[in-house]
Amino acid sequence: MHIVIDSLYKTFGSTTALENINLQFQGGEFVTVLGSSGCGKTTLLHLLAGLTTPSRGAIYVDGEVKSRPGADRVVVFQQAGLYPWLNVQQNIEFGLDLQGVSREQRRRASSEILRTIGLEAFARHKPYELSGGMQQRVAIARALVMKPKVLLMDEPFGALDAQTRSSMQSFLTSLWDQLQCTIVFITHDIDEAIFLGTRLVVLSARPGRVALDVPIELERPRTAEVAFDPRFLELKKRAMGILAH
Ligand SMILES: Nc1ncnc2c1ncn2[C@@H]1O[C@H](COP(=O)(O)OP(=O)(O)OP(=O)(O)O)[C@@H](O)[C@H]1O
Ligand SMILES: [Mg+2]
Repeated sequence: MHIVIDSLYKTFGSTTALENINLQFQGGEFVTVLGSSGCGKTTLLHLLAGLTTPSRGAIYVDGEVKSRPGADRVVVFQQAGLYPWLNVQQNIEFGLDLQGVSREQRRRASSEILRTIGLEAFARHKPYELSGGMQQRVAIARALVMKPKVLLMDEPFGALDAQTRSSMQSFLTSLWDQLQCTIVFITHDIDEAIFLGTRLVVLSARPGRVALDVPIELERPRTAEVAFDPRFLELKKRAMGILAH
């Protein structure tokens, strides 16, 4: 899926959240978007998801303007937001149920994805019985079961402790290796952005503009040691320089 963001502006009353954003994402990219608080990251993700419309400019998905949310572009938020009254399996199947997918097909799809995320044993558990990391894995599974072409993630690991966060990063990377869907991943953590992405976009402080848009040319799979690679450090320095302004 090819995404073109063309001369995009978003204003809220007198606040300009995003100013003249121009970006192009190819199918299969893992784009990480970095920016300080309030620079318009969530707004950009909402625009990509079709949850809100541009004030000026347009977003083209495979050449078409999509002004509504669609199952092809699914969002994972910072809080897992699972339905507390449904068990893990029912949470994962919820979107398929809404689409009218048969019970048998739903079961097959949810069982497969539960295996992928390593939570088969928790299928009948309620969200409150899971740790934060497990809940977030279910939230990702709930998105992936829709087989989206684009996975939009808004600081999905922001609420997790450092250790869980790091294991979720590896988990997401290996999922993406298998799926090869496009991921747009928002974070304000520089290391996370460089560790995960194939491409780094840095937004300037409000109004958000594209201050940097570069490929991350570090071999994959990456291990924690990549943080000592001179190319990693160089990129980190550039990103820090932008975020400091
Ligand atoms: N629905 C809205 N109505 C009015 N102003 C809004 C709305 N949504 C966002 N804004 C404003 O737009 C700007 C960008 O907000 P946004 O939530 O996109 O930032 P962000 O980069 O995601 O920040 P954070 O890192 O804190 O999540 C902010 O000034 C915010 O107050
Ligand atoms: Mg945000």
